[in-house]
Amino acid sequence: MLYNHLSVGENGHLCVSGQDTIALAAQYGTPLYVMDEQVIRQRVRTYKTAMERYFPAGSRPEFASKAFSCRRIYEIMAEEGMAVDAVSPGELYTAKVAGFPMERVFFHGNNKSDEDIAAAMDWGTGYFVLDSMDEAAAVEQHAAERGITQKVLLRITPGIDPHTHRKINTGTVDSKFGVALETGQAMEAVKTLLTYPHVELHGFHCHVGSQLFEVSLFRDAASVMLKFARDVRDTLGFTADIVNLGGGLGVRYVESDPIIDYDARLQEIGGYIREISDELQMQPPRIMLEPGRSLVADAGLTLYTVGSVKEVTDYRNYVSVNGGMTDNPRYTLYGAEYTVINASHADAPCDYEATLAGRCCESGDILQRDVMMAKPTRGDIVAVLTTGAYNYSMASNYNRVPRPAVVMVNGDDSYVAVRRETYEDICALDQ
Ligand SMILES: Cc1ncc(COP(=O)(O)O)c(C=O)c1O
Repeated sequence: MLYNHLSVGENGHLCVSGQDTIALAAQYGTPLYVMDEQVIRQRVRTYKTAMERYFPAGSRPEFASKAFSCRRIYEIMAEEGMAVDAVSPGELYTAKVAGFPMERVFFHGNNKSDEDIAAAMDWGTGYFVLDSMDEAAAVEQHAAERGITQKVLLRITPGIDPHTHRKINTGTVDSKFGVALETGQAMEAVKTLLTYPHVELHGFHCHVGSQLFEVSLFRDAASVMLKFARDVRDTLGFTADIVNLGGGLGVRYVESDPIIDYDARLQEIGGYIREISDELQMQPPRIMLEPGRSLVADAGLTLYTVGSVKEVTDYRNYVSVNGGMTDNPRYTLYGAEYTVINASHADAPCDYEATLAGRCCESGDILQRDVMMAKPTRGDIVAVLTTGAYNYSMASNYNRVPRPAVVMVNGDDSYVAVRRETYEDICALDQ
């Protein structure tokens, strides 16, 4: 099995932390997102403990909540003492209604409107991660109008190419995100920010990409960012308190992906930070990382019911299920790989090659192409693994398909974290 919390029961059913997925499907219906609360908590604790142990004092992770955003996850993150990264007023609002301490929220995004800025300030958002100087000026103005000082970080594009998919690569100079370092614009931006009376600069942020397996990219990012922090100190006399190196550590979607020892990876990154700071003869700032996927992806799987198995002679077999790009658009968007299991017969040999097709009226609605599984029949439950990140949060109502429920498994219990949408929900906004 791809992960330790997955197993096969005596009845041949796929189990999550000992709970029978076929029973979960019967109880809650399909399609169904199943998340394992204990797995999320373990991942969070691994990051927190490792960063406390191996990174400069005061370093911490924040959860990139775009990966999975609903009230329950902010409650869990609050209970675990996490900070969070939110990228929209919708995420901020969800954090707020979940009772998340807003002073521990970092507000990201490359286009914060005046309404967004006003809402975020009124909700007491701890830090804005400024993405452009237009935005910086607007934040200064809104803070001045409220008579407050807003804490900010400045997002830098460090000019590092992680060679991942173009759509999840954000750190190169030619990017919509951040202020470019290479062009001298980042230094100019800091100079301007330091003149703003209602904006309190705390440091710098970058994010080089996602699904990264090479820790050397974090070394490169740390090297560029710490050098920039030192240059700013030497040129402008401003000492950064925080350097945020972004998210991005990978997760295992398929057997060929490496097994990642997060504690060991974080120890390595911590070591690089110490070495680089020593080389630069600087006191290292507090380092933040903002993992999304590596905190929640492997905690999740999606259960579907098979509707048909179609064999196109001499071409391909299609297994059609009752979900698809509406609950997981990642294959359609960028060919993301997943492991597929016939959860009803998880003990049977995976000797049937098939394309897992969604239910939408769209030939591109494919969940996974040409994968091996135990041959299913109508009514079987198929599981797509590692769907805890960027699935529920990317879901849509295309074809007016209601979004699935999110059920959390917690030890021997399970509970609904997000209820299934109804057809009434689908029509609720129509006038
Ligand atoms: C700025 C920023 N931070 C954090 C993340 C989280 O990345 P991941 O989920 O790969 O850890 C992303 C993802 O795109 C991001 O753009």
